[in-house]
Amino acid sequence: MRRSLRSLPVLAVPLVAALMMVLTAPAPATADRVVVGGHPARTVEAPWTAAVASRALFGGKRSGQFCGAAVVSPTTVLTAAHCLSRAVLGMDWRQVRDLRVIIGRNDLRKSDGMEYPLVRVWVNPAYEADNRAGDIAVLTLGVTVPAAYTVPMAAGRGDPAYRPGVRAAVYGWGDTGGGGEYASTLHAATVRVLADTVCRTAYPGNAEGDYQPRSMVCAGLPDGGRDACQGDSGGPLVAQGRLVGLVSWGSGCGVAGRPGVYTRISAVAGLVAAHG
Ligand code: ARG
Repeated sequence: MRRSLRSLPVLAVPLVAALMMVLTAPAPATADRVVVGGHPARTVEAPWTAAVASRALFGGKRSGQFCGAAVVSPTTVLTAAHCLSRAVLGMDWRQVRDLRVIIGRNDLRKSDGMEYPLVRVWVNPAYEADNRAGDIAVLTLGVTVPAAYTVPMAAGRGDPAYRPGVRAAVYGWGDTGGGGEYASTLHAATVRVLADTVCRTAYPGNAEGDYQPRSMVCAGLPDGGRDACQGDSGGPLVAQGRLVGLVSWGSGCGVAGRPGVYTRISAVAGLVAAHG
């Protein structure tokens, strides 16, 4: 979520929270195509892409989707810690009665695929809302999903999938234009993993953001145009067949010189093992 949203006082009414998400969406970026600058994707191509949903809070139109997620084992789904924050939900996540993970549903207006309640939720207590480091939550399903729905996590910091320039794809049902146009069908955008120096230059710790190479990885294109956006948070960034990041934040969407920032999976693998 954007700085402006998180600094708001606690919102009691979820609908207001949802509305604020839309209202505080960044101004349209240079590119105004779709995820921003992306293309339609199908869940069969990325079956490990999941939606986090609550119809009670976000309405039934798009299955209650409000964040993305990645399935990493038959019972373990990863999303962003900030997705379960009060700023997003308008309440403590424990009070949300119908928190669900949806898998295999390309079009959120439909009811195909699978919808799972959660038996356990672990939100990284070390998540720092100020600089957004450690933006991860682990969701545990009560049933096992087929292994075909899982994506392996990056092997470690030295995984070649993290090499600058490597092609990566981000998936989500988020804003496709930067102006609050939430997608009903899954979209994907192909971007490139960027060097920490590039990410740090973009977000040196000023009002634009604070890139922390230890816990984050950033991706984008030199001219912008393709990126994740609001509503994609928690969703997968996949390179070389491995999960390298979770959508976390960015300044605007698809803006040149302002790449998307992701939770670095290699940095949180231990937490996932401990809480998955
Ligand atoms: N925080 C946003 C969310 O809740 C994701 C923003 C990603 N932005 C970007 N430019 N990559 O959905």
